[in-house]
Amino acid sequence: MARSRSVYACTECGAQAPRWLGRCPSCGSWSTLVEEPVGGGPAPEDLLDSGRSGGGPVRLAEVRSEETPRFPSCIGELDRVLGGGLVPGAVLLLAGEPGVGKSTLALQLAAEVCGAGRSVLYVCGEESPEQVRLRAARLPGDPGDVWVMAETRVEVLGAAWREARPSLVVIDSIQTVRTERVESAPGSVAQVRECAALLAAAAKSSGAALVLVGHVTKEGAIAGPRVLEHLVDVVLTFEGDRTHSVRTLRATKNRFGSTQEVGVFEMSGSGLEGVDNPSELFLAERRPGVPGSCIVPVLEGTRPMLLEVQALVAPAGYGTARRTCLGIDDGRVALLLAVLDRRAGIDLLSCDVYVNVTGGVRVAEPGADLGVALAIASSRLDLPLPDDAAACGEIGLGGEVRRVGRIDLRVREAARLGFRRVLLPERVGASLEAPPASELVPVADLTRALAWLRAQSPGRRPAKDR
Ligand code: TYD
Ligand code: MG
Repeated sequence: MARSRSVYACTECGAQAPRWLGRCPSCGSWSTLVEEPVGGGPAPEDLLDSGRSGGGPVRLAEVRSEETPRFPSCIGELDRVLGGGLVPGAVLLLAGEPGVGKSTLALQLAAEVCGAGRSVLYVCGEESPEQVRLRAARLPGDPGDVWVMAETRVEVLGAAWREARPSLVVIDSIQTVRTERVESAPGSVAQVRECAALLAAAAKSSGAALVLVGHVTKEGAIAGPRVLEHLVDVVLTFEGDRTHSVRTLRATKNRFGSTQEVGVFEMSGSGLEGVDNPSELFLAERRPGVPGSCIVPVLEGTRPMLLEVQALVAPAGYGTARRTCLGIDDGRVALLLAVLDRRAGIDLLSCDVYVNVTGGVRVAEPGADLGVALAIASSRLDLPLPDDAAACGEIGLGGEVRRVGRIDLRVREAARLGFRRVLLPERVGASLEAPPASELVPVADLTRALAWLRAQSPGRRPAKDR
């Protein structure tokens, strides 16, 4: 195949230039020219040459609605996130920072699907087949029948794909593959986009599920997964603090299911293990009776999980007070500090504040507000929360405690693990029935929540002046 010449097109105005320019000659934007193959988008039949065509338009009413056909990935937590399994012909992007465990998950997936009697092609562009084999030896399952290929040219890969007729193709990673249609280096925007388009077309025409592994950096802005999001059917984000063993898998886009569910894994010596009871894992190392800790039931999709939020308030040294947050949005904590200060009379201006969600997970929902505020106040006042207390509720700028979704599930999960006193928004407290032996503590605002906290340690004087 003759190497096709590339053009450079401006992403702002679409103007084309024969070579790369720093500034678009037409609209004057800087750094907007990206390489594109001559002749526009990819030809779907190029790679597999199956000769199938899409057919003409049909009236919407005549479109047959069928259940999306799926096959299970045989990894429980992954199936949960996907909404039941892999969809033939669909493209899935598995994105995450280097080292989080993408290759491990991809290889486990390949082994499981292969073990269920389907043909799998695993393309390792980053590692040699020997390295993949060494890794596979650590993992559960027998991946012996997986077809492994260390090839980075998409065109060559297409030939192997045609031959192996896989049900699942894994490309690890999309940043390492390249096509002749584009001249720039692997990993560049043009290469990544073009290769993904070619591979996606091949998946559609062959009916194989395609998993593209993609690296993102901390900023998430790298030429890679971001430019692919619109092109794929499912985007899975694999996250986790590398210093912890917990990994979470979320669908940030899912054409075939919800984007609400989260999968929880633990990285062990023998691969990733699904975690059925995340709450127990997150609370395993909790020390009761320490001021500055609060248990928070959060909801991930339909699954309630208990997390421990820890806060440490210390007198600030010179200059501006430090605020450091791990596992929670800085802006949200700043808001809560301001509300605590202005609405509940907790003086925090001259204090350093550290907030940490244990276990290396991230909380993103406002339902954790009350728990975070209580943890901060508990540390500032040096009053611990009772060992069996948990809190959930959103906090408004007026200091009011607002309702959050599915309080019943949260309260039940808390009760299951022995947290029998749950502070919650007043409005839901009235209508909700407490689980056996549990006590619901409805609070209208932060002031009342703090009054409750003070009443728990009657003999102890809150630390006021430092
Ligand atoms: P890897 O899947 O290579 O990450 P990625 O493809 O996202 O860059 O795995 C990264 C880490 O996981 C690596 O530091 C080693 C560790 N690991 C385990 O702890 N247990 C295992 O069984 C395996 C295979 C890897
Ligand atoms: Mg890898």
